[in-house]
Amino acid sequence: MSDLSRWTDRVALVTGASAGIGEAIAVRLVHEGMRVVGCARRLDRMAHLRARLGARFTPVQADLRDPDAIDDLFDSLDARGLSPAVLVNNAGLARKDSLLDGTREGWREMFDVNVLALCQCTQRAVRGMRANGDDGAVVHISSMAAHRVPVGGNSVYAATKFAVRALTEGLRQELYAAGSAVRVSAVSPGLVETEFPAVYHGSAAAAALAAADFPILHPADVADAVAWILSQPAHVQVHDVLLRPRRQPN
Ligand SMILES: NC(=O)c1ccc[n+]([C@@H]2O[C@H](COP(=O)([O-])OP(=O)(O)OC[C@H]3O[C@@H](n4cnc5c(N)ncnc54)[C@H](OP(=O)(O)O)[C@@H]3O)[C@@H](O)[C@H]2O)c1
Repeated sequence: MSDLSRWTDRVALVTGASAGIGEAIAVRLVHEGMRVVGCARRLDRMAHLRARLGARFTPVQADLRDPDAIDDLFDSLDARGLSPAVLVNNAGLARKDSLLDGTREGWREMFDVNVLALCQCTQRAVRGMRANGDDGAVVHISSMAAHRVPVGGNSVYAATKFAVRALTEGLRQELYAAGSAVRVSAVSPGLVETEFPAVYHGSAAAAALAAADFPILHPADVADAVAWILSQPAHVQVHDVLLRPRRQPN
């Protein structure tokens, strides 16, 4: 059992909280006593989560492809006294837009959400953390695709996650150079049971045809890793948790 008591009543911003891993992280952090702000485009999905979790969960609609929407999100959180002490950069997607056959739109969406939104959210959140006692944590939901280019996978998606891996170490170095106590970590999962393949393949039916024939991770497994990271004492900085289904071959 993780001890997250140092974060009790503090605010966590979880991007992409309307589904999958982000939803599981939001649920877990509320159960651990945090106040959680979830952001995504699908407000209806987060309204269900609000009904389930109560006032400790605040849904905010934002399209993270839009830099102004990200600034508005952080401005409104600052104005409402909800500046995050913890940022979980979870929102992300893969499109089936390969290098040889894909479109610039597909590549752009992956880079906009997986990389540029992560950079902007990190910059805004860390500024707030440093202004509020220089205490906080940033957790990137990366991927095993940050550690090798999956055969048969999408190398543009892998490129976005290689970027997330570089940005994890880059932020660690910048925080160290600034003398900051804010910590940065990543979780790099293999296959997780979410809507992610349906987005990639364009439909749930196509995703079902391509599904793995072995048990894959549950979103709660990734939420467990985030809780474990946040439970570490202030002198410990977890860098990256690599997490595969036991039977995932690569
Ligand atoms: N599932 C896997 O096998 C797997 C493996 C390794 C890493 N990951 C990573 O885990 C993270 C979460 O993925 P998941 O598996 O939970 O996928 P998911 O079920 O498809 O959920 C993706 C989340 O990202 C949000 N999102 C996507 N585009 C957005 C945008 N433009 N603006 C705001 N929010 C946006 C979605 O919300 P809306 O659609 O409502 O906006 C949704 O809440 C991603 O970073 C992914 O790369 C997943």
